[in-house]
Amino acid sequence: MSLNLLKGICESAFSAISGFCLRAPLSSLGEVVRRGASGDLTKRIDKLAEDASVSYLLSAGFGGSILSEELGLKRIGSSDYPLLVLDPVDGTTNATRGIPLYSISAALAHGPRLSDVDCAVVMEIPSRRIFYAAKGGGAFLDGAPIRANASVELHDSLAGIDFNVLGNREKVYEVLPVLLSVKHTRNLGSAALGLCYTACGALDFYLDNRRLLRVTDIAASALILREAGARVLDLEGNDLDCPLDLAERVGLFAGCEKACREVISLIRRNAFAKS
Ligand code: IPD
Ligand code: CA
Repeated sequence: MSLNLLKGICESAFSAISGFCLRAPLSSLGEVVRRGASGDLTKRIDKLAEDASVSYLLSAGFGGSILSEELGLKRIGSSDYPLLVLDPVDGTTNATRGIPLYSISAALAHGPRLSDVDCAVVMEIPSRRIFYAAKGGGAFLDGAPIRANASVELHDSLAGIDFNVLGNREKVYEVLPVLLSVKHTRNLGSAALGLCYTACGALDFYLDNRRLLRVTDIAASALILREAGARVLDLEGNDLDCPLDLAERVGLFAGCEKACREVISLIRRNAFAKS
């Protein structure tokens, strides 16, 4: 039932975006329409997807609240929970540049923390593929069970690393030893998708040391990863858990235990960061 609600949200956002794309040039998807609750600029594509999601929720008689990157925290029904944690578009820059790597990320929580998320869907919008999970029920991609890679050798790995650091030199130095230890890297521009690709084993592990991600970016994919057998750790190496609050900024390691621990140790022993 809850998964169907999340899938319905994704489908309605997908229809709104694809309908708009038939009528208007790509450039208009990137027009700034306002400043969102997260403080980031809301582009037309973000608003289209969020408006469609909220309309769907209202038509479905949703009784809880929504925490969305653009709208902030709003109560829609008669109670605080369930809380829908939504990123209407994750990978907005890709979308507005015509790069087909962006997603909608929707999670339902019955409490105030990331660990209270019990149902999650991420739709890869251009392909309409759906990653999803319900707590305790495993993770799936379009109906087929998925698992994260369980034994990763760093020297042979394909790593998702977000080094989009906005001029923060320290953060680049921190990940240098990881960049030098893996076989291939990808910086995809949609954290939600990069994490889901790790959940299905397309990427071997994922690293974002910037402490810039919001819970809206990761709430759904963190559950999908855990249900796919992966660890999701914070930058201190503990299980990632944080308040479902737009003010929260997180970094993370995701993948099998071995890959996460090796990456953490590379970063801790890092000579570049200290020089
Ligand atoms: C962004 C993407 C990107 C990450 C940024 C996020 P948005 O989300 O996840 O990969 O580098 O930090 O803000 O802004 O497209 O929803
Ligand atoms: Ca977004």
